[in-house]
Amino acid sequence: MTAEAPARTQTWAPDTYAAHGRFVADLAGAVLEWLAAQPGERILDLGCGDGVLTAALKAAGADVVGVDSSPEMVAAARARGVDARVMDGEGLTFVSAFDAVFSNAALHWMTRPERVLDGIARALKPGGRFVAEFGGHTNVAAIITAMRAVARRRGGDETLAGPWFFPTPEEYGAMLDAHGFDVKRIGLFARPTPLKTGMASWLVVFRKPFFEQFGSEAESVVAEVEDLLAPTLRDRAGNWTADYMRIRVEAKLR
Ligand code: BEZ
Repeated sequence: MTAEAPARTQTWAPDTYAAHGRFVADLAGAVLEWLAAQPGERILDLGCGDGVLTAALKAAGADVVGVDSSPEMVAAARARGVDARVMDGEGLTFVSAFDAVFSNAALHWMTRPERVLDGIARALKPGGRFVAEFGGHTNVAAIITAMRAVARRRGGDETLAGPWFFPTPEEYGAMLDAHGFDVKRIGLFARPTPLKTGMASWLVVFRKPFFEQFGSEAESVVAEVEDLLAPTLRDRAGNWTADYMRIRVEAKLR
C-alpha cells in the first residue's frame, strides 16, 4: 500500500462515465413512465449527471433544470443544451419552484437523506410530485462484500467499499411521510444489470476511492475482487451481471 492519503470522495469523468455507465440512463424507462412528464411542467432533475435524461425530459416539452454536485458532469449536461447547475443534493436552494422532482440512480450517493428530502419538499409547489429510482436495500451486496473481504485481507479500509444509502421501502416510506409526502407507490425489486464493459471497469468507475487507497496495488486489488465475484456474477460465456436492487417511488407533497 502507498503511504499517500487516498482520495476518499468519488469523482466523475464524463467520458469514462459515458463509456461504462451509459446503461444507467438506458434503463430508466420505467421511472420516466412513472413521472409521465407533461409539456410545460417545471421539473427538477436531481443528480442529473451528464444530462441524458434531462435532455429527454426537455424533448418531451418539460421546462427542466438539472442539478448535480459534479462540475464536470454539469458541464457535460450543459453541452447537451440543458439548463444544468452545480448544486449539492443535500443543500437544494429552490423554494416552491417545481411541479415535480425527478431523480434516477443518484439518491444512493447522498448519505444524508433527511437533508435531501427537506430540500425536495421545499423545492416543490404544494401538491407537487416526487418520482425517483435508486439503489435499495441489498443493492450490490455481493460486490460490496467482495471488496470488504479483499480490504480485510490486505489491511485496507473496508468502510470505503460501500458508503451508499440503500433503504428499504418501509424506511424510505416513513421518511417521506415525516417530510410531508403521501406515498402513492413504492417498491423494491431486483434488477440484475448486464455490465457490457465488464466488472473491472464498473469497479473503478463507481467505487474509485476504495481502489485508490491501495495506490500502486490498485490493479491487483481489482483483479482479486473480480476473482471473488466471478463464480456468482460471471456467466460461462464471460458476461458480467451486477446484483442491482432498485427502489422506485412516487410521492405527492401534501
Ligand atoms: C447503483 O446505481 O445502484 C449504483 C451505482 C454505483 C454504485 C453503487 C450503486
